[in-house]
Amino acid sequence: MKGKSIGTVIVAEETPNPSEFSFVLTKSEDDFRLQKGMYVTIQSEEGEIIASVLNVFKTNRYFSSPSAVKAYETSGKTLASIFPVDSWEYIIAQAKPLGIFTEIGIKRLLYPVSPGDTVYVPDAGTLSKFLGLDPENGLLLGKIAHHDLEVKVNLTRFLQKHAALLAISGAGKSYTVSIILEELLSRSQEQGRVAVILFDVHGEYKGLSDDSSEFKDKIEFFPGAFIQFATHKLTAGQFASFQPQMSAVQVRELYRILGKLYVTNTKQGKSYLIKDIIEKIENDENINQRSKEALIGWFYTLESTHLFGQLEKPSLEEDIKAGKLLIVDLSDFTSLRKKQLIMSYFLTQLFDLRKKNKIPPTTIIVEEAHQFAPEASISMGLSRPIIETIAREGRKFFLSLVLISQRPVKLSTTALSQCNTHVIMRIVNPYDLDFIGRSSEGIDRETMDSITTLGIGEAIIVGNAVNHPIFVSVRKRKTSALQTMDLEESAKAYDTD
Ligand SMILES: Nc1ncnc2c1ncn2[C@@H]1O[C@H](COP(=O)(O)OP(=O)(O)OP(=O)(O)O)[C@@H](O)[C@H]1O
Ligand SMILES: [Mg+2]
Repeated sequence: MKGKSIGTVIVAEETPNPSEFSFVLTKSEDDFRLQKGMYVTIQSEEGEIIASVLNVFKTNRYFSSPSAVKAYETSGKTLASIFPVDSWEYIIAQAKPLGIFTEIGIKRLLYPVSPGDTVYVPDAGTLSKFLGLDPENGLLLGKIAHHDLEVKVNLTRFLQKHAALLAISGAGKSYTVSIILEELLSRSQEQGRVAVILFDVHGEYKGLSDDSSEFKDKIEFFPGAFIQFATHKLTAGQFASFQPQMSAVQVRELYRILGKLYVTNTKQGKSYLIKDIIEKIENDENINQRSKEALIGWFYTLESTHLFGQLEKPSLEEDIKAGKLLIVDLSDFTSLRKKQLIMSYFLTQLFDLRKKNKIPPTTIIVEEAHQFAPEASISMGLSRPIIETIAREGRKFFLSLVLISQRPVKLSTTALSQCNTHVIMRIVNPYDLDFIGRSSEGIDRETMDSITTLGIGEAIIVGNAVNHPIFVSVRKRKTSALQTMDLEESAKAYDTD
């Protein structure tokens, strides 16, 4: 259904054609402010055509001749004092048809609209359907720019095939994450609730679980100091991924050693520690001396991280629950390698548990994703292989990723290319911009051009979650959660004497 009429299609510079038309605004500017980026609609025989406004400009024939304007205005009078110039000012807009609603769905427009056609503002329902939103059960991320329309993205379309949130520092990525979290935690059982795990690199999200937060009962905050791996759950392959120099022969030997420990310990209900593995290697007579020394050396290094224990903490099987959020605090760790080890361990376990259906469908949120899945191999991304595996295969097991990064160029292209929805906020670096243009599906020139002009809290959603790129003003959050202070506040909090 169409809304109010606002304009009429005109003939201008080889338009209307299938990809562009112009129209003159027939409403007064006081009644209707036409803006770049708005959606408009035209009724055709086949169905309703939806178009977006590419540009808006004004014209006035009294001012179209420079010589006449100069002659009048230098004579001491203004044109406006002699002629009714105001009534000759027109607003003209250029618009691009995006598609047409037909009985069989949305199609591309292959013919031009007609001069004289009436242009309307689409109503919210039509627009919502056209953009592929889910007004009943979607996640409310904000409002669409220029229209009073809530952006509610469908959970499956948004998260099943992974999402990436990309923008410069300070553009509002973490804020948007907290909005996504609020939405996920607010879902009812009937709407379908996923479990969420978030790796909090900067200790920003703790506030979400504070007493004052309405979500506190749904959030478990796990402090970094208590993180521990269940050593017996690690396979030789995983140990090898922690130590990429390990040779195939050494991995094979390790499989054998861990196999023995499985029989003597795990099977009997006893766990084991790194020191037990070291002891087994030391006492093994089949491993050659050089491999033995190398393996023992590596295991001592792993032991020195103090991450390997008997029990898994947090315990994923207990703490990953539908409709709940587990925050794993990594903010106290300075060593990137240690943070990568933690990410690698927990993601590997999550993938395994999801395959065995021992935990509910889960969304994993990774801040600073370029540190955990770096594109460059020299940066030793220990957690990169598992992030790439989940990016490729996770969707089959309903294990999804939300990767957040301010340096998309540095993020694994394998992982990023599997993120079918991109939420792009302000980006200014030309390399990152260019990269986004190449890696985001369905992003057009006009959308690209707008990325540098986005303000804080403004985003473009492109890809699987929506039928067309949309501009969103991210909504205000319900919680006052994120712990961000500006320099002034931080200085005052420190200097209390
Ligand atoms: N939608 C919004 N509405 C109001 N304020 C916002 C919004 N988005 C972000 N902000 C504010 O902008 C500031 C920066 O936001 P945020 O910390 O989310 O940025 P970021 O992209 O995560 O930065 P970094 O890359 O440094 O982590 C914060 O003070 C936040 O409160
Ligand atoms: Mg942030």
